[in-house]
Amino acid sequence: MEQLPSGLTVDAQSGVITGLLEEPGAFCMEFVVSNPLGEDRRPFTVTVGEEIGLTPVMGWNSWYIWSESVSQEKIIRTAEAFVQSGLVDHGWNYINIDDCWQGLRGGSHNAIQSNDRFPDMKAMCDQLHAMGIKAGLYSTPWVGSYAGFIGSSALNAEGDCSDIAVAPEERPQPDQIFGRSPNVIELGYNRIGTHWLADRDARQWADWGFDLIKFDWNPIDPATTRRIYQDLKDSGRDMVLSLSNNASLDDAAQLSAASEYWRISGDIEDNWGSINRIIRKLIPWREWAGPGHFNDADMLQLGQLGVPNTYVKQTRPTELTPEEQYSQVSYWSLFSAPLIISCDLEQLDPFTLNLLCNDEIIEINQDPLGVQAEVVLSRPSTRVLVKPLFDGSKAVGLFNRSNRERDVKLVFGKAGLPARLNVRDSWRQKDLGQFDESITVRLGAHDCAVFRVTE
Ligand code: GLA
Repeated sequence: MEQLPSGLTVDAQSGVITGLLEEPGAFCMEFVVSNPLGEDRRPFTVTVGEEIGLTPVMGWNSWYIWSESVSQEKIIRTAEAFVQSGLVDHGWNYINIDDCWQGLRGGSHNAIQSNDRFPDMKAMCDQLHAMGIKAGLYSTPWVGSYAGFIGSSALNAEGDCSDIAVAPEERPQPDQIFGRSPNVIELGYNRIGTHWLADRDARQWADWGFDLIKFDWNPIDPATTRRIYQDLKDSGRDMVLSLSNNASLDDAAQLSAASEYWRISGDIEDNWGSINRIIRKLIPWREWAGPGHFNDADMLQLGQLGVPNTYVKQTRPTELTPEEQYSQVSYWSLFSAPLIISCDLEQLDPFTLNLLCNDEIIEINQDPLGVQAEVVLSRPSTRVLVKPLFDGSKAVGLFNRSNRERDVKLVFGKAGLPARLNVRDSWRQKDLGQFDESITVRLGAHDCAVFRVTE
C-alpha cells in the first residue's frame, strides 16, 4: 500500500482499512499485491464529502432466507461465511438485517430495542466491522412494519403500542405485536402515526454502529423521505438510506435528493416473469442513476432461498434456470442496481459463488460513472444494453429473451457503436479479438452475453 492518507490505517492481517478523514476531497492511492507468482497494482480513491454510497451497495439481506427468524447468531454466521467463501475479497461488504429484529421501545433514547434474538446489537456491529463488513438494519415510518413489529412512528409520545397490539396468543412471536403479514394492513397501522420517533431510532442506530438503514413503506412520499434523511444526518453517523418499496417515477428527483437508493418495484420472486416485470419498470428510471443515487431493482434471486413471512426455515434452490441467473446478474450490473443477495450462505454452491465473484462483471456494476445502461435495441426476442464506463470503454449486454437457443447478432451500427470494435467477453474474462460491423453469439433460452468493447 502506498500513499494511505493520514487518518487511515490498514490491518496488515486482514487488509481492512479503518479510520476517519475530516477533510473533504478525493484521496488517491494505489493497492499493490504480490506473491511468488508476480505483482499487480490498482488505483483506488477514497472520497470524503456530502455524498455517501458512491457505487451500488453489494451485500446480503436476511429477508428471503431467514425472514421472521433472523437472529444475531445467524448474522454472525453469515458474516463468517462472507469471509470464508471469499465474497468479501470481491467487494461484498454489507450484511443487512431486514424486518423482524424489533422488540419494544426503551433505552436512553426510548428507541426501538432489539428482540430476544439479538442480545447485543452494538457487539454485533463491532464484530462485523472487525471483519471488514458493514451493518444494515430495517424500519418503517409506519406504526407497524409489514411483518407486524413496531415502526418508527406511534400513536402516543412514548411509542407504547400495548393498547393497539393483538392478543399475545394471536402473535407468531411475542414482539410481533400486530401479527403476521398482512395483518398490520388489515388493522390499518400501515400509516404514519401522530408521533414521529425516527429521530430517536436514528440516534440509537448510530450508537449501535449501523451503516445502512432500509425504510420500508408504500407509497414512499418525498416529505417523509426528507424527514428520515434529516434524522439520519442529525444522528452524526453516515448511514446509507435505502427506500422501499414501489417508488413512483414522478417523485424521482425528490427521492434522489434525500436517499441513496430506492426500490422501483414491489417484491421480487425467483421466476423469469418477475425479473422481466422489474426490468420493464426499471428502464424509464435511467436518468436517476449516478454516484450515490441508484435505482433499486430488489434482491438477487440466487442460491438456496427460504420462504418470506415464515419462522421455520425451509430452503430450496432458486427456480431461475442457470441462464436466467446469469441474466439477472448481468442486467443488475449493467443497470448499476444494488447487488444484494438473500440466500443461505452456509449452503453456497460453487455455481452461485462463481456468479457472484466474477470481478469483470462486478467492475461493470461498480463503475464510478454509475450510469444505468441504455436499451439500444428491444425486440420480443432480443434486448441489447449499452453502458458507458469510466475508462471510456463500454459494456454491452446481449439478451436472448426467447424460449429457445438461437444465434443473436449484434450489428454495431444499429446499437450506436463504432463499426470496428475490440471485444472482450466479461463473463469468460477472455479477449475475442477485433470485429467489423457485427458480432454473432449463440445464446440459450433467456441467456445473455456481456462484452466490454473499445474502439
Ligand atoms: C416488504 C418489502 C420486503 C421486505 C418485507 C419485510 O414486503 O418490500 O423487501 O422488507 O416487507 O416485511
